[in-house]
Amino acid sequence: MSWRITLMAIASAVVCTTATFALAAGGVRSLAHTAGIHFGTAVNVEALGTDAPYSRLLAREFDLVTPENAMKFSVIQPERGRFDFSQADALVAFAEAHAMQVNGHVLVWDQQLPDWLTQGHFSSDELKAILREHIQTVVARYRGRVASWDVAAEAVGEDGKPRETFWSRGIGADYLALAFRWAHEADPQARLRYNDYGGEGAGAKSDGIYTLVAGLRTHRVPIDAVGLQMHVSLNDAPRPEDVRLNMKRLAALGLQTDITEMDVMLPLPASRAALKKQAVLYGAMLQACLAVPQCRSFSTWGATDRYSWIPEFFPGQGAALLFDASGHAKPAYWSIKLALLTKASHKR
Ligand code: XIL
Repeated sequence: MSWRITLMAIASAVVCTTATFALAAGGVRSLAHTAGIHFGTAVNVEALGTDAPYSRLLAREFDLVTPENAMKFSVIQPERGRFDFSQADALVAFAEAHAMQVNGHVLVWDQQLPDWLTQGHFSSDELKAILREHIQTVVARYRGRVASWDVAAEAVGEDGKPRETFWSRGIGADYLALAFRWAHEADPQARLRYNDYGGEGAGAKSDGIYTLVAGLRTHRVPIDAVGLQMHVSLNDAPRPEDVRLNMKRLAALGLQTDITEMDVMLPLPASRAALKKQAVLYGAMLQACLAVPQCRSFSTWGATDRYSWIPEFFPGQGAALLFDASGHAKPAYWSIKLALLTKASHKR
């Protein structure tokens, strides 16, 4: 363990009460609750039905779930006007059975779109009607059951300028404002979020996201939160201090924040040294969130390395999550637990 984690361990040992130690013995979700945040993961809905140890691990450790793919456009509306909610329903039922919150993911994104949509040569008015129907059908179905929605994602480029996407080309720049308004109409209580990667700390993209959401706020678009995805490696992670400052400036706009999809990819096979560095990074990002009252949740993009998207999308990389492929806790898990324990013991 690094000096930072060792120090945290000492600090928490000093302030811990017996009750806090009792908390630490359970999963992370109760500790996160005491620390004042939700603790989440992306869920592979197909594995829910086939892998009982996986389902048990989810129920023990997390109180917030995001469907990894089950609510994406191509899954939910594979043919025009034909909605398939089977996987999404299964996810929501699982969450309700285990007293978890659901984060809906994702309504307006330019990936995992069905061919009928991308090859359809629709006019701007037709696309608006399609998007409105999609958003309102999906959000209304889960009204009161999905606490927050990733309404829009990845609309900003690396240079901080609005990115040209299928939706911006087809509808025009106001597609984002329209999407948030339609989602709000369908469920006025749902917390509506913009979610992006690579803009978590300082830099052009972070500034671009800030400018985008500030503009939405100015125009009274119903946006409540910004999701910082946090797909990182040991070499390219933002400085935790910059993440904290970014969260602070978003909070000053009246926006909550979440760390929505954290994973830390390592070259395979992962060395012990890399796993320790990964643990430090997870702990530091969680601490950044815990330092900002408006940071409401911390989620990883998967629970165990068995179902992580990383090895497929980044060949040679993996071991990115808190549990290994057999479901055993990795150093990163203990680092997360320590950060929560420290915060929880100060709150009690
Ligand atoms: C990924 C899933 O994990 C994969 O299974 C799928 O094939 C592609 O999408 N940012 C996001 C997620 O917001 O929806 C992506 O999920 C990962 C990057």
